[in-house]
Amino acid sequence: MQTLTSTLAASSIPNSLQEVLHVITTTCVDISGKLQQGASAGILGAAGNENVQGEEQKKLDVISNTMLKDTLSACSHVRAIASEEEDDIVPAHTTGSYLVAFDPLDGSSNIDINAMVGTIFSIYHQTGENRATEADFLISGKEQVAAGYVLYGPSCMLVLSCGDGVAMYTYDPTEHVFVLTQDKVTITPDTNEFAINMSNQRFWSQAMQNYVTDLVLGAEGPREKNFNMRWVAAMVGDVHRILCRGGIFIYPWDNKDPSRAGKLRLMYEANPMAMLIEQAGGKAFTHTERILDIEPKEIHQRVAVILGAANEVDACLTY
Ligand code: AHG
Ligand code: MN
Ligand code: MN
Repeated sequence: MQTLTSTLAASSIPNSLQEVLHVITTTCVDISGKLQQGASAGILGAAGNENVQGEEQKKLDVISNTMLKDTLSACSHVRAIASEEEDDIVPAHTTGSYLVAFDPLDGSSNIDINAMVGTIFSIYHQTGENRATEADFLISGKEQVAAGYVLYGPSCMLVLSCGDGVAMYTYDPTEHVFVLTQDKVTITPDTNEFAINMSNQRFWSQAMQNYVTDLVLGAEGPREKNFNMRWVAAMVGDVHRILCRGGIFIYPWDNKDPSRAGKLRLMYEANPMAMLIEQAGGKAFTHTERILDIEPKEIHQRVAVILGAANEVDACLTY
């Protein structure tokens, strides 16, 4: 049996990065434990405050953020963290060589209905001994040394890339280990499944409306094949489906707030997912550029996201 620990130990990944991954994954197992307690522990519902992006925080957003912040800050290899639920970056150890950005709980509208949620993380390597600043985090996603997510579904799963493909691990709660259950994950280039929040249709660009209209026309339309639609309302769940059986996921720009490039955040949602998708042979773009090439301007920056099966992302971009 291959586990996360044994596969990392057999790889050329530096011990320091292995330790950071160990901290993230063991903390996620603890978050999974909290999620399983759910209503019985009185931890569902709103926390009663908003995050820096004006979104209502759930109690579990705050709890999972605190858990990851505390454990990562205690790890000597961590130089600083950035989180969806923290206004500013949180410096840790000046001698640490990793910057970690994370979405502690993705899909938090799913918490109260006992549906899929996850933790998304992105790791950068950095040298020097100055106290970290926000500017240190403003590196394009192609510089990530590792990215992944832990999905809290019927099984707790870790999906990880350290720049050499994508591996899936399933947590075995009887043995307390992540077991390697799929290696070299690949996304087939063609698909007939798409994921987009259709209720926003009237707010999209005309091009995006035309593209989705053609998908829905199916075999009778210009695409000449039928498409199926799925929407988990947690990016982590939609991306996981695409890594498992293909598809395209889109959260486009819309004119509900034209000043925003999109809903999803670059540093801890789009970049780590784009790394996983590309490492699995897929594509990840905004309306105009490769996500991993974007030079971030601030840690909570938003982007439009079009990712998944390579040929379908190309088809979407032709509109
Ligand atoms: P978060 O819970 O971390 O704020 O992220 C939610 C995001 C993403 O996971 C999901 O794809 C999207 O919001 C769902 O948006 P809708 O509310 O439009 O369904
Ligand atoms: Mn999220
Ligand atoms: Mn979140």
